[in-house]
Amino acid sequence: FFPNQAGQISGMGMMNMNGEVTTELAPSNEPSNKLNLPSILEGVTNPDGEISYTITAQQGNTQLKEGAATQSYGYNGSILGPIIHLRTGQQVSIQTENELDTATSFHWHGLEVPSNVDGGPHSPIAPNQSVNLEFTVNQEAATLWFHPHPHGETAEQVYYGLAGLIYIEDDHSDSLAIPKEYGINDFPVIIQDRLFDENNQLNYSTAYSPDGTYGDTLVINGTINPYVDVKNEKIRLRLLNGSNARNYQFHLSDDTSFYQITSDGGFLNEPIPMESLQLVPGERAEIIVDLSSYTMGDTIQLMTGDVPVLTLNVTEESTEEDVPLPTTMNTITHTADEVSPDKKMTFSGMGNMVTIDGKQFDMDRIDLQAKVGEKEVWEIENTRHMMGGMIHPFHLHGLQFKVLNRNGAIPPENERGWKDTIALYPGESVQIEVDFPEKGLFMYHCHLLEHEDTGMMGQILVE
Ligand code: C2O
Ligand code: CU
Repeated sequence: FFPNQAGQISGMGMMNMNGEVTTELAPSNEPSNKLNLPSILEGVTNPDGEISYTITAQQGNTQLKEGAATQSYGYNGSILGPIIHLRTGQQVSIQTENELDTATSFHWHGLEVPSNVDGGPHSPIAPNQSVNLEFTVNQEAATLWFHPHPHGETAEQVYYGLAGLIYIEDDHSDSLAIPKEYGINDFPVIIQDRLFDENNQLNYSTAYSPDGTYGDTLVINGTINPYVDVKNEKIRLRLLNGSNARNYQFHLSDDTSFYQITSDGGFLNEPIPMESLQLVPGERAEIIVDLSSYTMGDTIQLMTGDVPVLTLNVTEESTEEDVPLPTTMNTITHTADEVSPDKKMTFSGMGNMVTIDGKQFDMDRIDLQAKVGEKEVWEIENTRHMMGGMIHPFHLHGLQFKVLNRNGAIPPENERGWKDTIALYPGESVQIEVDFPEKGLFMYHCHLLEHEDTGMMGQILVE
């Protein structure tokens, strides 16, 4: 049996090395609930213009299902976290506090910061300790996220609820004619799958599989069966695949097209019309669903396979003029020519045998070196093996990169923007262009969190 890409993408059963089929996603029987909207984190602006925030990792109980509340982890709350708003050029200080009874770290996925701020496995914070981080926002508008990264514990802590969004805005994003009213026509959509026991609890060790902890129930921003009431206008959905392992293939219930406007690290050059969109764990994409031709009472669903993700109910007539999407949103140059790479790395294996270049992570070993400001081309291969192999989501810390080519061919249009996480298909070889803006020790790894924890991770020293 060779698991194929389609089988994995659709989220249907997938066989792992032990011949077990991973949990299938199923529509939930819970009543529908209004989509939970994370709060916007309030900062304090100091006289020198620096903004300071406090983020506390804590335990709590969350009403996810009818009946018993679910024990969970959250930032400044019982599950997930508030949205941290940042602005390009801004000086930021974040007080990170750990109120869990285990060590954690605070990683800002996609943020271009020095490694002492990056919050990787070298920066654990013990229970009841706190650490203050200072940095300047040096990148363009994007939707990023934050999550824990303590080695060997990342998957479990994310599974119990530690994840939050970061919105970077700049003058350019302010000026674009796109939906921007939070909770009105601009929605965060954090997509996760979870397995509940009969007492409504999450039990990581029961759900665990070395090739990824899957659940049968979608939980969106901590909401099961969510809906939003909207006007018949353009709606912006900021999608984050915050799942441990599941890949999603999003489409609309009436199979109409939508527009993808961003990749992980910022705006695409132009809105890309799409009928389906795949996101692997760690990836983000902002999409525009144009409801301007819909009428009162219409309902449309964002789906993955045949499972609803989010229901959009048109309940109000828009009184505003329908403005077309901008035709130019960014000016990213792209060349697809295959070049001889400066670095090559190989992702291989499944289960507990996952490796990069035949090795598993060692905190005391530096695997690669690079220099700040020296552009490099990396070739990353995912070896096909007897079992056919599986998709590994490749993620690199410290920067946004460009995908030059996939197997020598130009990548799809929605990947010709800034990326920090990409799907590596079995048997595939991808070239990316890397240019580190900051010094330090940075991680690269599989963002299937169980693979990462097992050791499908390496580190690069940038000087
Ligand atoms: Cu989103 Cu190294 O992680
Ligand atoms: Cu992997």
